[in-house]
Amino acid sequence: MGYTVALGGKGGTGKTTLAGLLIRYMIRHGMKPVLAIDADANSNLNDVLGVKLEGTLSDAREEMKTSVPTGMTKDIFMEMKMEQCMIEGDGFDLIAMGRPEGPGCYCAANNLLSNLIDRLIKNYDYLVVDNEAGMEHFSRLTQKDVDLLLLVSDPSRRGLTAACRIAELVRSLPIRVEKTILVVNQMQNDAGSWPEDVLETFGENHIALLPADPLLAQFDREGKPTSLLPDDASIVKATDALFARLLSKDK
Ligand SMILES: Nc1ncnc2c1ncn2[C@@H]1O[C@H](COP(=O)(O)OP(=O)(O)OP(=O)(O)O)[C@@H](O)[C@H]1O
Ligand SMILES: [Mg+2]
Repeated sequence: MGYTVALGGKGGTGKTTLAGLLIRYMIRHGMKPVLAIDADANSNLNDVLGVKLEGTLSDAREEMKTSVPTGMTKDIFMEMKMEQCMIEGDGFDLIAMGRPEGPGCYCAANNLLSNLIDRLIKNYDYLVVDNEAGMEHFSRLTQKDVDLLLLVSDPSRRGLTAACRIAELVRSLPIRVEKTILVVNQMQNDAGSWPEDVLETFGENHIALLPADPLLAQFDREGKPTSLLPDDASIVKATDALFARLLSKDK
């Protein structure tokens, strides 16, 4: 199984931004092929990476209920749809999960999808999974192990508490997470000391800091993909150093 990095944390803290910068780092360091999985119902990893989505797996699941052509099996239909949803970028492929299933019974479609995803990820050396704040899809991707879980927070008390809660939640799931790092993003000034529960949950050596970068904010406002930031942007320098530290020891 490929080396898997998952991202989680409170809404709007920088998970997708960081996922995009990680994929950029991997590609530039020959860590390919990468499969990017957008597991946020409100898919936007593609914007950060500068590619356009053609559809999501949840669209495919809905279509399976009504639009399978006569003479075609559901397996083949889903496989075809999944291929259509895959976006081929420069050094990476991207697939978006879309909305998690509602309360109705979509078991057959979900089983088919799970099997297809399992088969798909075998083709990649690296996987990056951008989750939404609620981590809805996370428990469904649990057939696999996670090598690195990046829990992203802003420096606020609420963000840090959310990161602690998610760390606990993940520990209660039947998955193996090799390493968990708290990434405190959008730092404006010196952190000072961390609250006791944060230190207890993560440990001082598992907390990383990233700066607020006005150029990143400007790119965002202008609708430019984060992955096109210049090498000397402060967020790129900081994330490159972080990923070099985290990934070189593991690999
Ligand atoms: N270090 C940073 N400096 C400046 N702006 C940042 C930084 N990190 C993230 N942002 C901005 O914060 C906003 C939220 O970032 P992002 O979409 O990556 O968060 P998210 O955690 O994925 O959000 P969601 O929970 O909605 O998926 C974006 O406008 C992004 O450009
Ligand atoms: Mg996001």
